[in-house]
Amino acid sequence: MQLDLPYALTAEVTHRCPLHCPYCSNPIELRQRENELSTDEWLSVLTQAGDLGVAQVHFTGGEPLLRQDLEVLVHCAREAELYVNLITSGIGLTEERLRQLSEAGINSVQLSVQASSAKLADSIAGFNSHELKRQAAQRIRASGLPLHMNVVLHRANLHQIEEIIELCVEWGAQRLELANAQYYGWALRNVQQLLPRREQLQEAEAAYVRARERFRNQIELLWILPDYYEEFPKPCIGGWGRLSLTVAPDGRVLPCTAASEIRSLSFENVKERELSWIWKHSPSFNAFRGSDWMPEPCKSCERRELDYGGCRCQAFLLTGDARTADPVCKWSPHRYAITDRIRSIENIDDHAPAPVYSYRGR
Ligand code: SF4
Ligand code: FES
Repeated sequence: MQLDLPYALTAEVTHRCPLHCPYCSNPIELRQRENELSTDEWLSVLTQAGDLGVAQVHFTGGEPLLRQDLEVLVHCAREAELYVNLITSGIGLTEERLRQLSEAGINSVQLSVQASSAKLADSIAGFNSHELKRQAAQRIRASGLPLHMNVVLHRANLHQIEEIIELCVEWGAQRLELANAQYYGWALRNVQQLLPRREQLQEAEAAYVRARERFRNQIELLWILPDYYEEFPKPCIGGWGRLSLTVAPDGRVLPCTAASEIRSLSFENVKERELSWIWKHSPSFNAFRGSDWMPEPCKSCERRELDYGGCRCQAFLLTGDARTADPVCKWSPHRYAITDRIRSIENIDDHAPAPVYSYRGR
């Protein structure tokens, strides 16, 4: 099998965050500040990524602005000829910080939003952040940097989808990712509180289609599929170890941000191995490359080169076996792990009291 070069690096520079979103993509076991890579270690990672052929880096967290050395890292990434995207909650993005990041060479900013109304957004984030995000969006637009936004969609905010799109247009976003929640980590812990009913999702999708028409010359919209309601899984991260890699705050190198939850694998660390060795030779990256590892029904399935058997993290989290077909697949023997969850929420009333989330910690 021919091994391609990784296209993108997700640099999870910290798990610290002022927000507590109940669908956070960070693992349940958050890494403490004292375990984070040092500035010099990150500089080495970014230089190695450039040498390896990586084209773009996404600085994310937690909240990457909590790293006081972020400007130094951005500058190094640009020296390594990487396109630099900052994924942020916007909390802490003062005018001065934005000026420093712009000078360091940042190329674009992706700002998250939780809902269209401050009351709902702040209750989802577990922090009064909505107004601070509006101010951050204003500063980003004033700086001339491209503003991209994203919202995680779930039972509590799907009814606001048109208003959320309107809000992002008003804040000046060029692109909005409408990401239906994916249930790993914190989101899986909160699945009973987050999972929408099928009818609610259908109404939201119809509203999205209307808004796409209405704002077609003003904003680019990306609809990330709600996979629990699909017949087949998504080709998660474009295939394990095919296009991208993630470096966690403590230096472990992962094929995706959720992979550390797969207990049956162990992951190499940039403190001990070069990035290029890890990409090419590590047992964890090679574990699910290609299709030789697949058991039935994927092994003989005609879709195996289209979806790569779906998401390895979801397979592990729902079945305990990372090699098995993603339970989203209608041919998976574990499809019940999805249908049982859908059935358990299908009678929830639209006017039920606000859900009590298990918020992520700091
Ligand atoms: Fe994809 Fe495997 Fe299902 Fe085929 S059987 S559609 S390869 S998950
Ligand atoms: Fe890890 Fe899908 S989230 S492979």
